[in-house]
Amino acid sequence: MYPNSHLAALEQLSQRRSVKAMDLQAPGPNQQQVDQLLAAAARVPDHGKLGPWRFICFQDDARQAFGEHLAQRFSELKPEAPTVAIEAERGRFCRAPLVVAVISCVQAHPKIPEWEQLMSAGAVCQNLLVAANLMGFAAQWLTEWYAYDETIDTKLDLKSGERVAGFVYIGSATAKPDERQRPDLQQRIQHWTKS
Ligand SMILES: Cc1cc2nc3c(=O)[nH]c(=O)nc-3n(C[C@H](O)[C@H](O)[C@H](O)COP(=O)(O)O)c2cc1C
Repeated sequence: MYPNSHLAALEQLSQRRSVKAMDLQAPGPNQQQVDQLLAAAARVPDHGKLGPWRFICFQDDARQAFGEHLAQRFSELKPEAPTVAIEAERGRFCRAPLVVAVISCVQAHPKIPEWEQLMSAGAVCQNLLVAANLMGFAAQWLTEWYAYDETIDTKLDLKSGERVAGFVYIGSATAKPDERQRPDLQQRIQHWTKS
């Protein structure tokens, strides 16, 4: 049988729910916890030991500073947007005490396809969610519009082959989320039989 601590972790994993970024608040992880979170997040399968991902952390004033870029870019894209919408962009990263941008860094490789490198970055995002939950924090993996905007990529200083896998918002939950309807698992499980 598993040790009790493993059972508790398994239970946590089986019940995991994201908490909306707007429902997150301080306190967030302290610096030691951030280091622990990133170390756990980085512990992913990685064919060829390429480490095809990196992190950009936003805390404290950096969140507001990046919000200025979001607001400016949003105004460029939507010149007719009302002030309230622009202000919402300015405050996006301030929804949580910690925002971690997980950057997928794909390199051309003779043996490791791009697909596998991208999935490794996805695994980093999921590890980050789970590690944050195990630490008692809540989290949400978002992309929203700014994960797909070239100007924002430039502000993030992304290089060729890099793109945002996700912005993982981490903090303390203001409320427990309701259960969400889940895909019908039985419909998605097949037991292969020789035919
Ligand atoms: C790659 C990726 C990007 C996502 N981007 C968004 C997003 O931009 N906006 C959003 O509301 N949910 C987004 N989600 C969904 C949330 O992360 C989350 O899965 C959803 O709120 C359901 O919560 P759950 O994790 O409890 O199932 C994204 C999920 C993934 C995997």
